[in-house]
Amino acid sequence: MSSVLGKILSKLFLKKILKPNKKPFCSAVIAAAGSGERMGGTDKIFVPLCGEPVILWTIRAFENCDAVREIVLVVRSEKIPDAAKLCKDAGIKKVSVVVSGGKTRAESVLRGINEVSEKADLVAIHDGARPLVTGEVITTAIEKARTCGAAVPMVPLSDTVKKHKDGYVTHTPDRGEFCCVQTPQVFDYDMIRGVLTSAAENGWELTDDASAVEKSGIAVALTRGSHRNIKITTPEDLLFAEAVLSGRMGI
Ligand code: CTP
Ligand code: MG
Repeated sequence: MSSVLGKILSKLFLKKILKPNKKPFCSAVIAAAGSGERMGGTDKIFVPLCGEPVILWTIRAFENCDAVREIVLVVRSEKIPDAAKLCKDAGIKKVSVVVSGGKTRAESVLRGINEVSEKADLVAIHDGARPLVTGEVITTAIEKARTCGAAVPMVPLSDTVKKHKDGYVTHTPDRGEFCCVQTPQVFDYDMIRGVLTSAAENGWELTDDASAVEKSGIAVALTRGSHRNIKITTPEDLLFAEAVLSGRMGI
């Protein structure tokens, strides 16, 4: 898609979204179908954190967020029964369907998006492995996407960034020009469905959903994320997450 076409589409989405009195119907797609290789073989999605599986903390954040109307949960096919039971036992009401993921995160996300309600205006795509996300981070991204069609939470970099080659530094860029992005990444539903479908057809390699949107020439806004909204990736991350959740529960 050319960037000119992207800009035209962006304006059309804007027109569609900017209905001042209508609260948008926002669906969440939670991608939790990975294999957790960097966790060293433990299934990080179901590992307990303060007594409850990582994924349940993640689901609860969206369940308790008024701006989210439904949740589509994407897990590995063999985990569908466990995930469905977990939601039922925990009294989760917003999970409309639990579907199986694909080989890549992008495939899993697209499978989830294809199951979202026809009523959806916006979709919030979230990593199942980010259980510390807050209602504030979710709502801020949804509100921004409502007015501009694509919004992503960010945090500034803490460390200095270096470009390198063969074990030597080649350049130190200005840190202020960079940021780290998180999830939920929130988009106009029709737009992201079209963009991710075309990305899959064209075999684009993506590390996040916003990249596909940017590549299509559509502007992506940044919103305030949180340094606590980490993605559980390695065992050390579990220690941090336990500490944050214990603090929240006043333990
Ligand atoms: N994910 C997914 N489907 C995949 C791969 C990843 O739904 N085929 C999800 C993961 O479950 C996770 C999120 O995407 O919630 C972010 O991915 P990542 O942290 O990389 O998780 P894994 O791919 O499981 O971990 P690793 O890369 O270490 O194997
Ligand atoms: Mg991965």
